[in-house]
Amino acid sequence: MDVLKRALSCPKAELHVHIEGTLEPELAFALAQRNNIAFPHASVEALRAAYDFSDLQSFLDLYYACADVLRTEQDFSDLMLAYLRRAREDNVVHAEIFFDPQTHTPRGVSFETVLKGLEAGAAIAAAEWGMSTRLILCFLRHLSEEDAFATLELALPFIDRIHGFGLDSSEVGHPPSKFERVFAKCRALGKPVVAHAGEEGPPAYIVEALDLLKVSRIDHGVRAVEDAALTHRLAHDRIALTVCPLSNVRLCVFEKMELHSLPSMLAGGLCITINSDDPAYFGGYLGANIRAVQAAFAFDATTWREFFRNSFDASFVDEAQKEKWLAQVDAHMLALA
Ligand code: ADE
Ligand code: ZN
Repeated sequence: MDVLKRALSCPKAELHVHIEGTLEPELAFALAQRNNIAFPHASVEALRAAYDFSDLQSFLDLYYACADVLRTEQDFSDLMLAYLRRAREDNVVHAEIFFDPQTHTPRGVSFETVLKGLEAGAAIAAAEWGMSTRLILCFLRHLSEEDAFATLELALPFIDRIHGFGLDSSEVGHPPSKFERVFAKCRALGKPVVAHAGEEGPPAYIVEALDLLKVSRIDHGVRAVEDAALTHRLAHDRIALTVCPLSNVRLCVFEKMELHSLPSMLAGGLCITINSDDPAYFGGYLGANIRAVQAAFAFDATTWREFFRNSFDASFVDEAQKEKWLAQVDAHMLALA
């Protein structure tokens, strides 16, 4: 079997996917119709044609606008189930999924509606296909600390159903330090925390995420290699980076895949995982990311095995479950045939 086929068919975990970023134009139009919402785009094709981003903000503007079609528990359930159905085709067996309550609650959609809907979709995928999921609540960093604290209050009645906390949205100008106190409270609740850092922002934001937020993973972190001391620290402490290659190219972090920092990250000994970020907007799900990376860099089977092992190793499941999946990765990637 060639390396690409073996990589695509390997069991894997996805650790960086925003559920709102899995909203395909077809589903967006169907939900707009179901909810009697006038959608500002003429057709599925017209909406897809608008996916021409110059940077993170140009994407976020459209992403938040499209999320307006999500109104009911059923909508969130349909969204989650559609993502998991698609992820399964890429042999994702476990997904740790971001959701952004602050994209919904100001529109009058309750926290409970969002959470119950997402859980309902995940429960169907668990029952039908044995898929494993975790939900990570992300705070929007362009909003205030006060708003994040208020969102955390909304989450408290459901805290046992939330597996971790994250930080996303417009990075530059909103450093991790802005949320130091919020994250201290999240950690005091016994939850692991992660943060987007070093996507568009400088390596110093990654340092802040480690030192002030005490994150156990860095989301993106592709600019880490600009700082040798930071690279050494991340490698030494085995902090996983959830890299999203197609996202980075579509948001112009790198001009083309061949210029992505992945090879430098590998050379720096970083713990890399490959993920899809907002697959409906960036040209594909995990399988498409793997294909694009392989077309650019032709990594060997050992490298892919390491990426997939990292995806389980850095996940929030218990050690026994990790061991089972790691053994499956090894069996798959090391098989002779
Ligand atoms: N929200 C959804 N996708 C994101 C990304 N790539 N960076 C920051 N916030 C996001
Ligand atoms: Zn992201």
